[in-house]
Amino acid sequence: MRVAVVILAAGEGTRMRSDLPKVLHPLGGRPLVVHAVETARTLSDQPPVLVVGHGREAVEETVGEGVTTVEQTEQLGTGHAVLQARGVLRGRADMVLVSYADMPLLTAETLGRLVQRQRENRGPITMLSLIQDNPRGFGRVVRDEEGGVAAIVEEAVATPEELVIRELNAGVYCFDGPWLWDHIDQIPLSLPKEEYYLTDLVGMAVQEGLKVEAVASRDADELLGINNRVHLSEAERVLRRRINEHWMLSGVTMIDPGNTYVGPDVTLGRDTTLYPQTHLRGETTVGAGCVIGPNTVIEDSTIGDGCRVTLSVVEEAVMESGSDVGPFGHLRRGARLCEGAHVGNFGELKQSTLGPGAKMGHFSYLGDAQVGAGANVGAGTITCNYDGTRKHPTVIEEGAFIGSDTMLVAPVRVGKGAKTGAGAVVTRDIPPGVVAYGVPARVHGKDEERRDDEA
Ligand code: UD1
Ligand code: MG
Repeated sequence: MRVAVVILAAGEGTRMRSDLPKVLHPLGGRPLVVHAVETARTLSDQPPVLVVGHGREAVEETVGEGVTTVEQTEQLGTGHAVLQARGVLRGRADMVLVSYADMPLLTAETLGRLVQRQRENRGPITMLSLIQDNPRGFGRVVRDEEGGVAAIVEEAVATPEELVIRELNAGVYCFDGPWLWDHIDQIPLSLPKEEYYLTDLVGMAVQEGLKVEAVASRDADELLGINNRVHLSEAERVLRRRINEHWMLSGVTMIDPGNTYVGPDVTLGRDTTLYPQTHLRGETTVGAGCVIGPNTVIEDSTIGDGCRVTLSVVEEAVMESGSDVGPFGHLRRGARLCEGAHVGNFGELKQSTLGPGAKMGHFSYLGDAQVGAGANVGAGTITCNYDGTRKHPTVIEEGAFIGSDTMLVAPVRVGKGAKTGAGAVVTRDIPPGVVAYGVPARVHGKDEERRDDEA
């Protein structure tokens, strides 16, 4: 049976008090709407249908291709919102699951149970309910004498007897597709808000003598709807706990999981330890047996096995196995530490590779540089890669030894095994195996004397 998912995302989100549409606010670094879309994808091969209204263009741009969007130009209620999807879904799905872009913690597991129950239901609706003392403004589930679902009553119009009901409507439903599309335009206008309530379909099915099933959620946290930034921070806490528990149960040690921030698209290897105030963001992979943090940010980077990152920032960089950085290192876009390479205090790399086993211990900057295996970059070495207009490359061949405080004025090449003296300002290429020092650096040593004679 084909399942389609409709995600409502047209509301304004006034209570966020934001210039950004509510559903684009990030949770765990990823926009709310993307959480809902990713969950929908696990339930159906069909592209989810997103009902958009406020901030339509920005929302469409964020979700990109693989999502069908339909516009609800006026927010006339949840029933009216679902009606907007009829044109694209009628005749295309046996079952239609309705969910919300501002409920990012709903799990695929719970939605899957809803779909499974509707598969077995001969009636047209299975709804998700929640039994809880704090009604949170949710609609109440009214049951008949036999215990069947009779209706959903919105809090605004509930009688005192209905208000004490503690079975709440989560707002998520799985419908029989053909029945939904035949009835969605029959919903009467509800006062006082003058909206078409999707919830009215429950009463309509019961009137027709059809069965409405309810599946109870096992976890109130997953129904947390985001209406303001307090809710957003609560959701962050829940998501963080879920993600961190997953990784701890997979073999990652977290010294203080309440202060460890791992994004939803991050993967971690076993026996890796995360110290407090570690922030792993974006598409980041960390291998096995690493020690990360404290006070570290790693974004969109790949870290191999057995690496150490201490009090450092790593962005769009690659660290091969056994390499390390910090304390106070900064690996920027395009930085690569090959196997066993070492960057110590206050080292910065941008678009640069430090070859296998190469070392850069203290206070250095490499930009647009290639450093060969086993080379040593002395304290305070700087690649002067920018002439005010363009960036130029530096090559340091394998086994070279760059003396402290060397300025490498790019484009420039230091040959294999060559050495520079402390304070050298290198403006011309240095051949392999020689020593160069001074300002500007000159080559000293037999090979070079001979070459000067020849010239
Ligand atoms: C709805 C349910 C309520 C349930 C609660 C759970 C109805 C009438 N009520 O109430 O029984 O307990 O969810 O959270 O369905 N939206 C649109 N277009 C619209 C209206 C809403 O896209 O015209 C979207 C909103 O962006 C929001 C969601 O639908 O994400 C819920 O709408 P809202 O009006 O806030 O319903 P609730 O009052 O939360
Ligand atoms: Mg509301």
